[in-house]
Amino acid sequence: MPAAAAARLTSRFALADEAATARLGAALGQAIEALTEAIRRGGLVIGLSGELGSGKTALVRAVLRRLGVTGTVKSPSFSLLELYTVSRLNFYHLDFYRFSKPSDFSTSGFRDLFTPGSVCAIEWPEQAHEPGFSVDLQIGMQIADSGRIAKFDALTQIGRECLQETNGAWQTSQDAAC
Ligand SMILES: Nc1ncnc2c1ncn2[C@@H]1O[C@H](COP(=O)(O)OP(=O)(O)O)[C@@H](O)[C@H]1O
Ligand SMILES: [Mg+2]
Repeated sequence: MPAAAAARLTSRFALADEAATARLGAALGQAIEALTEAIRRGGLVIGLSGELGSGKTALVRAVLRRLGVTGTVKSPSFSLLELYTVSRLNFYHLDFYRFSKPSDFSTSGFRDLFTPGSVCAIEWPEQAHEPGFSVDLQIGMQIADSGRIAKFDALTQIGRECLQETNGAWQTSQDAAC
């Protein structure tokens, strides 16, 4: 088994309503804040998959709120990129939905954003159409009954640390919500 697969860490979160999605986003934001120094050294790439309306933008919006963004958080589905400076990090919210062929990503220049000190949260990362394209934390958002299910797969060391921190913050917020 490849080392990366052996080290993969997975968590699932049942999100009964929009408030639960907001709490999970806040937990992920708290994790990003806790890992600021590590992200300044190496960067963090988060891929968000799932059908339209499954909650990818809602989750990122809640992350940004937790990181102190108070103004409008627009979906990047038209602009492709929205950028924020938070917690001494550059936070890039990207949406690749409109990419239809491999050259769309390679000529976009977006790869230049994947640097130490940056968090790249990417909706539709699979639309990069690039076999070597990799993320640290893959989040799958699914519509389930009246709620949502979020599945986090951590694929790298920083991804695993981020997921462990998110799990801890989520547990604390669950206990507080009960
Ligand atoms: N846990 C949840 N249960 C039910 N509805 C939710 C939940 N989380 C978010 N939503 C709703 O689902 C929609 C998600 O939209 P959006 O975040 O734009 O999706 P996407 O970016 O995946 O296309 C919003 O209308 C939001 O209010
Ligand atoms: Mg969206």
